[in-house]
Amino acid sequence: MFAIFGNPIKHSKSPTIHKLFAEQLNILQQYKKIYVPINKFNNIINYFFKHGGYGANITIPFKKNAYDICDFLTERGIKSGVVNTLKIIKNNKILGDNTDGIGLLKDLQKINFIHKNSNILLLGAGGAAQGIIYPLINFGCKITITNRTYKNSCNLLNHFNNKKHIEVIKIEDTYNITHIKNINYDLIINATSSSIKNKIPNISSNIIHNNIFCYDLFYSSNITSFLKWCLYHGAKQVSDGMGMLIEQAAYSFFLWYGIMPNTTLILKKFKKKYL
Ligand code: ATR
Repeated sequence: MFAIFGNPIKHSKSPTIHKLFAEQLNILQQYKKIYVPINKFNNIINYFFKHGGYGANITIPFKKNAYDICDFLTERGIKSGVVNTLKIIKNNKILGDNTDGIGLLKDLQKINFIHKNSNILLLGAGGAAQGIIYPLINFGCKITITNRTYKNSCNLLNHFNNKKHIEVIKIEDTYNITHIKNINYDLIINATSSSIKNKIPNISSNIIHNNIFCYDLFYSSNITSFLKWCLYHGAKQVSDGMGMLIEQAAYSFFLWYGIMPNTTLILKKFKKKYL
């Protein structure tokens, strides 16, 4: 038995995506959505694994809690400090992995939004941002983090301790034209939860130019507020996080079954074009 745990969870597309993977590979699979009240994560996940649970996906806001309950971690799990995938291994031990970052990287490569030397401006310093940094710097990119609360971005920088590939700037610095011209970001990734509330991080629109790629980790049935803002300010290439969702799910599936599903057809079904 498999399930995704989160709060909120109602709108999760993970059960549908995993159903399509299982059908594609002729695997019989039960995959549920489980709503977890805040402070109940440990009880509910332990109950699940004691009663036939084999694998789990973890979403907002429990990825750090999931990391804390793991007996073993993959290298990606260790490096990011938050996990989105759990699996029961020998002696009922829990293995944790983070497939968000590698899923994002895969999608960015597929849509040609990234290259090895990309200069990335990362908006946000919560669990979502933390989960994607390691594979991006490992790929060769440089990351500048900016966040509403400066202290949170400094804490995130300290977690990675890689001053060569990551730096932090204040939101106000995005209004400094000289700084922005010098760096010239290739890709901007919104890892804040602002799109959930139809808001936009308070960054300068000077960052946006017609060659920049804009990616929102969030997805919804309509274009996200952040991507709408990017298009309004002259961006020509934007994408929401649906591709990442499908790719990260494929890496979770691989951790559980050792087989990689084909994501291309599923992507076609879900992904929207905005231009
Ligand atoms: P998650 O685990 O999904 O990243 P989180 O840890 O609550 O959730 O972090 C949410 C991120 O979105 C944070 O970087 C937060 O900024 P703060 O550190 O200042 O709280 C950012 N965020 C949320 N709402 C925002 C808004 N309206 N504008 C800008 N940033 C926002």
